[in-house]
Amino acid sequence: MPLICFASPKGGVGKTTLAANLADALHRNGRRVIAVDFDPQNTLRLHFGIPLTEMGGFMAQLPRRPDWRSCLRATPSGVGVLPHGATELRGALGLAAMLERDPELLAAPVRAMLSDPGLLVIADTPPGPSHALAVLVPMASMVVAVLQAEALSAVLVPEIVSGRFLGSGTMAAMFATRLRVVLNEVDLQSRLSRASAEAVARHLGPRLLGAVCRDETLAEALACQKLVQDSAPQGRAAEDIRIIARAIEAALPTMEGREPLTAGWAAQ
Ligand SMILES: Nc1ncnc2c1ncn2[C@@H]1O[C@H](COP(=O)(O)OP(=O)(O)O)[C@@H](O)[C@H]1O
Ligand SMILES: [Mg+2]
Repeated sequence: MPLICFASPKGGVGKTTLAANLADALHRNGRRVIAVDFDPQNTLRLHFGIPLTEMGGFMAQLPRRPDWRSCLRATPSGVGVLPHGATELRGALGLAAMLERDPELLAAPVRAMLSDPGLLVIADTPPGPSHALAVLVPMASMVVAVLQAEALSAVLVPEIVSGRFLGSGTMAAMFATRLRVVLNEVDLQSRLSRASAEAVARHLGPRLLGAVCRDETLAEALACQKLVQDSAPQGRAAEDIRIIARAIEAALPTMEGREPLTAGWAAQ
């Protein structure tokens, strides 16, 4: 415990970049952290320097019920990484169908990860709804939705605030309390980016954890397979990420106390 799940209604918004760099920042703050890739794109590993040619991983093997510990990769950052593993289309569709029939296939190993009270688990998920997200959200202490500072984001805010983005009906309302938002790629030189960011911030109030500026150092860090605190610690993006890590640390104690729903159901 706890689990922080990164999600977004839309792809290409910086979800994986922020999940990786915030996992690193939280580890630097003294947490024991593992970062788990639930997205078949299999890119989380690249931020931690795991070579492109290494294709093994946890989710891709899930039908064979692997021991998650045997898939865990130690990385120079000190964050343990569970890569997704390579999958082709048929494999990804097969896994999705399997998870729909048997969510326990994923819920059981995630519960095992969360049974270590000192371990912080960061989950990166595919864009939009997914079976993995449906399994993870009830177990998460916090769901961090990543939004870009652009016109479309203001439209997505009601969807996010209501929790509809994570479910429907009463379940959505329950999960909505766990939702926090990070605004990414804020460009203070752009009137539209600034106006969109301000509109989102007004709507969200304290649910907004923070904002990350548009900064090439983040893309450069990925190109060098490094984390931004190593490659450009003086940069603005690195500073924004440290501030958001502190905001997560401040918010977690009030959110962490909640009993994970699945644990409650399992006990009945
Ligand atoms: N704040 C930012 N400034 C500049 N580039 C960014 C920023 N955040 C992410 N990127 C770049 O945007 C691209 C998509 O990011 P990624 O984290 O893979 O998105 P997602 O996981 O949502 O699909 C990557 O090339 C990444 O380096
Ligand atoms: Mg991604």
